[in-house]
Amino acid sequence: MKVAIYPGSFDPITNGHLDIIKRSLSLFDKIIVLVSFNPNKKYKFDVETKVNMIKETLIEEGISEDKVKVDSFSGLTVEYAKKNNATCLIRGLRVVSDFEYEWSLNAANNYIDPSIEMVFLMARKETSFISSSSINEMHDNGVDVSNLVPKAVLKYLK
Ligand code: COA
Repeated sequence: MKVAIYPGSFDPITNGHLDIIKRSLSLFDKIIVLVSFNPNKKYKFDVETKVNMIKETLIEEGISEDKVKVDSFSGLTVEYAKKNNATCLIRGLRVVSDFEYEWSLNAANNYIDPSIEMVFLMARKETSFISSSSINEMHDNGVDVSNLVPKAVLKYLK
């Protein structure tokens, strides 16, 4: 069984993340969406809330827990992958600036454990401008973001 981890801050999950999850299912038997911790970021939502938003989104989408599991981890993602028999980490790429960041992340992960591969999926053009922080900023300033996030997220934003 091919298992992959989709790690990220998910602060909150957006339609862009959801698109990557759905497309990853054609490549892997099982995905673990991992709410991870980036020490350089200040988060709006706590880990439990972020996990709940993702779980509720998957239920709304009719995606079973056998296919996509949600978890959280505060240590190194590659270590979590190893412990959970996952061979790959999935990341979404939107624009060129993402590439530079992912290049460093890939190099660091490779240094820690070269047996874990990173797989990059290009964001669809409709979602390539979305980021969690832009969702939060738009919403806080009264912009309707209902086309950009799953329904489950909307009630948490309010
Ligand atoms: N659709 C929508 N948004 C997308 C996207 C897509 N397809 N692809 C990327 N993004 C956005 C996210 O919304 C996020 O936006 P934000 O910055 O406004 O929050 C941004 O791109 C990147 O965030 P994310 O993918 O969540 O990465 P991150 O930098 O917050 O966290 C971790 C990266 C958590 C995976 C990484 O820090 C990690 O693995 N941490 C654990 C410790 C570790 O193993 N470190 C690596 C070795 S030192």
